[in-house]
Amino acid sequence: MTELLHASEEGIAAAAQALSQGKLVGFPTETVFGLGALVTVPQAVEGIFIAKGRPVNHPLIAHVSKGFDLSDWADLSSPDAQSLIKNFWPGPLTLVVPRGPKMPLSVTGGQDSVGIRCPSHPVAQKLLALLNAPVAAPSANRFGKVSPTASQHVLDELNGRIDFVLDGDSSSVGIESTIVSLLGGQVVLLRPGSVTRDQIEKVLGCKVHLPDEALYDQGLRVSGNLEQHYCPDASLYLCDEVADPALLNVVSSGKVLVVGWTKAFLTQFEKCDVLDLPDDPQAVAQRLYSILRNADKQGVEKIIFQRPPINECWRGVTDRLQRAAFRS
Ligand code: TXA
Ligand code: MG
Repeated sequence: MTELLHASEEGIAAAAQALSQGKLVGFPTETVFGLGALVTVPQAVEGIFIAKGRPVNHPLIAHVSKGFDLSDWADLSSPDAQSLIKNFWPGPLTLVVPRGPKMPLSVTGGQDSVGIRCPSHPVAQKLLALLNAPVAAPSANRFGKVSPTASQHVLDELNGRIDFVLDGDSSSVGIESTIVSLLGGQVVLLRPGSVTRDQIEKVLGCKVHLPDEALYDQGLRVSGNLEQHYCPDASLYLCDEVADPALLNVVSSGKVLVVGWTKAFLTQFEKCDVLDLPDDPQAVAQRLYSILRNADKQGVEKIIFQRPPINECWRGVTDRLQRAAFRS
């Protein structure tokens, strides 16, 4: 059985102690809940891969509290790293930079780079501040499945497979952090998230490349980049504002949920269960994974999701939806 710890001073202290002893602890962050292990305990890091059923060559993100001295763990000395830290930490931005000598290769998937993140969730900050090493933490879900945005989701997925879950307010961002690589003297967006490419370009005053435009072969293994990831059990269809007639046929049978934000889109599906969201990428991101989870719980067979507009604000949501989408 996995024990739920309350987000009180005592609960947070117990979670920190468990991590120090090499236990696995689910904990809240503002993006999604993480499955934490102290990077300095090899069996604990290995345990993450076992609990998740995740291939071992996939690198993990190392999490630290604000002000943690990272000098021996990662090389964040470049001016670009420094300005991104100044502008976006604590917050939903992960930086991929050269690995430092103290950072174990088991965390980086054997690579000489490491992803570092300083989450802003107050419970995560308090927890990390009690530790003298970073905490490796992927999202606390089974490999390939939808990430958890509440402690109950972690229990639903990993009960009995990990030692503790630290409770805390559900994730306000709702999708995983933006990942930016600063390797090889260029800036590459490895995973879009709520910190947008436009925001990063504005801060750095240079172009942020997409992975397929990168000049330097990043040689990266980013599990979020496997084509199909973040999958609900239901089949998810992305649908334009004016639906393709073939898709209208799809919704004529089975248990269907339609999710969208414009009237023009939603009125085409009057006979279905409809979820009307605000026309706002941050609001859609916040609810996205719990919508997919609830749909599965209720036995929904098909989810029709409105296709977001093509712009940087929607890139994170679009990315997750495309990976979750059904391929026939
Ligand atoms: O929001 C988040 O980032 C959440 C919370 C818990 O902080 N964590 C998360 O971890 O999404 P995970 O393991 O599900 O995704 C981490 C991504 C993976 O796709 C991994 O391959 C990539 O980060 N990553 C980590 N280190 C890397 C590196 N050195 N080079 C390239 N990609 C890296
Ligand atoms: Mg994940």
